[in-house]
Amino acid sequence: MLFVLIMTAQTPIYLQQDADIESRVADALSRMTLDEKVRLCTAQSKFCSPGVPRLGIPEIWWADGPHGVRAEVSWDSWAYADWTSDSITAFPALTCLAASWNPEISALYGNALGEEARYRKKDVILGPGVNIYRTPLNGRNFEYMGEDPLLASIMVVPYIQAMQKNGVGACAKHYALNNQELYRVGVDVQVSDRALYEIYLPAFKAAVIDGGVYTIMGSYNKINGKWGCHNKRLLVDILKGEWGFDGVVVTDWGGAQDTDEAALYGLDVEMGSYTNGKTTGEDFAYDYYYLARDYRQGLKSGKYPMSTIEDKASRILRLIFRTSMNLDKPWGSKNTTEHSEVARLVAQEGIVLLQNNPVGKSKTALLPLQGDKNMRVLVVGDNANRSHTSAGGSSELKAQYEITPLAAISEAYPNTTYAMGYDGGPAVYNQVVPSTMNGDSLRADAVAKAKNADVVIFVGGLNKNHQQDCEDGDRLSMDLPYNQDQLISELVAVNPNVVVVFHSGNAVAMPWVNSVPAIVQSWYLGSESGNALVDVLTGAVNPSGKLPFTFPAKLTDNGAHSFDAACYPGDNMYEPYREDILVGYRWAESKKIKPLFAFGHGLSYTTFNYGKASIKSNGNGKTPQIKGGETVTISIPVTNSGNVKGKEVVQLYIGDNKSSVMRPVKELKHFQKVELMPGQTETITFTVTPDDLMFFDADNHQWKAEAGTFTVYIGSSSSDIRNKGVFNLTEEVTRKP
Ligand code: BGC
Repeated sequence: MLFVLIMTAQTPIYLQQDADIESRVADALSRMTLDEKVRLCTAQSKFCSPGVPRLGIPEIWWADGPHGVRAEVSWDSWAYADWTSDSITAFPALTCLAASWNPEISALYGNALGEEARYRKKDVILGPGVNIYRTPLNGRNFEYMGEDPLLASIMVVPYIQAMQKNGVGACAKHYALNNQELYRVGVDVQVSDRALYEIYLPAFKAAVIDGGVYTIMGSYNKINGKWGCHNKRLLVDILKGEWGFDGVVVTDWGGAQDTDEAALYGLDVEMGSYTNGKTTGEDFAYDYYYLARDYRQGLKSGKYPMSTIEDKASRILRLIFRTSMNLDKPWGSKNTTEHSEVARLVAQEGIVLLQNNPVGKSKTALLPLQGDKNMRVLVVGDNANRSHTSAGGSSELKAQYEITPLAAISEAYPNTTYAMGYDGGPAVYNQVVPSTMNGDSLRADAVAKAKNADVVIFVGGLNKNHQQDCEDGDRLSMDLPYNQDQLISELVAVNPNVVVVFHSGNAVAMPWVNSVPAIVQSWYLGSESGNALVDVLTGAVNPSGKLPFTFPAKLTDNGAHSFDAACYPGDNMYEPYREDILVGYRWAESKKIKPLFAFGHGLSYTTFNYGKASIKSNGNGKTPQIKGGETVTISIPVTNSGNVKGKEVVQLYIGDNKSSVMRPVKELKHFQKVELMPGQTETITFTVTPDDLMFFDADNHQWKAEAGTFTVYIGSSSSDIRNKGVFNLTEEVTRKP
């Protein structure tokens, strides 16, 4: 405020808060030397890039992302700085957020994280991640929002908008096609334009156009022969061209590869390059970055047009005015009760009840747990008693606290005992460090204890170790690690009352699925992990999460794994995406493969009845019909037909009955989460437009809906369709991308 009061008529425009940002950018630019402009484009430490000290323009502080604000890293190395003031609230992984299918929750998440970032004086949070879930082996799927472009697009926007209201930029990453960690630097993804536009780009486009995201991070991989961080097609033609992105493109850390391309093809800020200069004995290490000394010389010699640096510097200044020099931004806060509540709420809404059957002759399902407070609960599994916020690569967090499942279950049920059952070993980045414990004894101990329990809660799944859910490596198979299959089978053989809870960001194979009554998908839930899990197990909260990706029964049921090794994992040179647009449920449905758990699946402790859908259009005729510019209104009454309050995600898919090109059987086009009291009915209404009917016509570089009949599928998951209807599109409709 003081700053505003001392302004005078002579105050330069770039310092005037109420001047529009473009005038401030132009004014600042006009006062800067070439060297100062170029200095903006490369790091000055691991997570900081410079401003213009002479003009009082501050630097930019970047921080991971995307589930909380990462702990402080040293100036020049990846070592943690060991501060005592940088612990934070850990929010659930983005997979969990996507599983909530609730955009309002996404806004709460983005705002709370934005507040924590402000308090920690960060200008940009390196998230959200919206790479599409292509294979269950990808080590970083937990940081992303699932397999469906529409779901990811809808969920990513409120996160960005709410975060940015705090004067903190979001960073949609990793643009694009970074769908695996194995060979992530170097793999050359060969992808068709159709798959690019229909599957892999929509969430980024939504982040830019609907979310107004301030920054985008390029990916490590190559796309059709060109590096992601300076890929002309993706960055210049599509992002900054077709979508009109006015923000900053930053490299993934160490993702720049070449000065010519970095200068010319859309990169603005280079971070994390390994040419740190120290080894050359120069004073300033970062001058050896691709966009530093060599770029500056190239500009001076006329090799690179001055327009490139004018554009880069303008974008970076715009980001600074939107964030660090935005005096209207709030102070922020961290580790507040409100943030804990947001973390718990996201977790509660994202937990997915995959299976819930009665045991033996009982008529009621095993969950919610029926026994009283004093029942004998046996908790089994390393994941019940292990931190999931502190490893996994760049998303790892220094949570101020993390309530484990064991802690929360023990609090709810004082007669809880624990058996480790299996040991995941220590989490060491980029290394598998085997357990030193005896697996047979751990298993035998758990099975012996299970005989005397009223209920066994097994908490297993994956963890954040190398080749599990962790950066820089993929899983080696879809199987559960650490011999958990055997443990689960032996537990259920001695005690049928087994609840299996999985922490993971990925689908796992479940050979024992038919013998276990209850299965809960619990993602990585952050600080409030155990509390949210207990809320769901006890029925204090009725689960309402739905899977954001397909659980195939086996790996080869997944599109990317249905071809040769070139298709996955590829090699350091070449990886054709042969499944093309048929990712996730699109593949399973086209090939008539029954998934173990379908996209959009998730049970509740209540039941929902779907009434008859009404399909209305403004066209005439027996079958509802529309043409370009018109809409179809689809309404469906949904009733809570059970005994407890609950939330249902009503999902609307559309399929083209006949097309000149191959199309998926159906695709998600709309959804709505609704809360209903027992007996309550609400009519859900969706408006379908010709945009919802289009495919990407690559030959003509346009979106196209062909005239004909379309089927609407409304249901509780992609495989649980409760109602169908048809309507006609009477003319072809096209749209520019
Ligand atoms: C990751 C990014 C992360 C960056 C900075 C990279 O290794 O791929 O997601 O934001 O490091 O930590």
